[in-house]
Amino acid sequence: MSSSLIPKDNHSYNSVDYWDKRYSSVGQGCDGETREYDWLVGWTDIRHIVEKCVPKSAQILMLGCGNSLLSEQMFIDGYHNIHNIDYSAPVIKQMSTHCQYCSRMKWSVMDCLDMKFEDNSFDVVLEKATIDALLTKETNPWHVSQESRDLLTQIMSEMSRVLKLEGQFISISFYGSHFRYPLYKSCSDALKCESRFSMKAIDELGTSFHYYCYSLVKSADKTIELEAKVYEPPKMISGLNSSESIQTIDQSLDTTEVEEHNNYLFNINL
Ligand SMILES: C[S@@+](CC[C@H](N)C(=O)[O-])C[C@H]1O[C@@H](n2cnc3c(N)ncnc32)[C@H](O)[C@@H]1O
Repeated sequence: MSSSLIPKDNHSYNSVDYWDKRYSSVGQGCDGETREYDWLVGWTDIRHIVEKCVPKSAQILMLGCGNSLLSEQMFIDGYHNIHNIDYSAPVIKQMSTHCQYCSRMKWSVMDCLDMKFEDNSFDVVLEKATIDALLTKETNPWHVSQESRDLLTQIMSEMSRVLKLEGQFISISFYGSHFRYPLYKSCSDALKCESRFSMKAIDELGTSFHYYCYSLVKSADKTIELEAKVYEPPKMISGLNSSESIQTIDQSLDTTEVEEHNNYLFNINL
């Protein structure tokens, strides 16, 4: 990836100015070479999961589409009703031109925190790395701030509004289930509307670096719950003296002490 496209700090991934600049930059692709770029995984990595639960006729909302090839490849494979949104105008212009041949595919500049769609418009909301980008202010995934929880609750509330009952929310993330599952659960519990999201499945993706696919369903039944283990952050062991091994201390590190430099997305140069 061209170094000029990597932000100085991780917070920039949560700024429309950053994305506008990135998508308008030389080469116009996130890697500085090509115009299109897929974060985390591509269509071939998730096709087996999506095709199992999403019929080809589904009305699909792609949240924070960026310049990913996902929608185009899904279209080629028979998903013809996809509405792509992103709050960055340059990328919507670029990708709508690139995908001009995909008749019926729609493109809108829109903030996913304040969507302009009618209630109950979609069967599926699909997002890949958009929620990860929105949460990049967080430096410690064990302790997500109230500000980020409120942000995610607002997105889930908007998704719940635009999804039909029993509609699906599919989320592809860098974060494992011990972080993301309890977060989705608590933000869903905080929704003020009648319905909520229930976790249907969590799939692991990738061969070397692992990513995760969360499949949730908008349900009227507040009792449905996936049986999933909820992990807790490791506890600090008190009374260790300096002669005890560094390895033991590392393993028992209280993650509330982890500093700003523990910058997950930044470290893997996404
Ligand atoms: C990490 S990129 C992922 C792009 C694409 N989904 C992919 O998988 O390659 C995050 C995208 O989300 C968009 N985005 C971030 N916050 C948004 C918001 N509040 N509303 C709409 N789009 C947003 C950014 O402009 C960017 O294109």
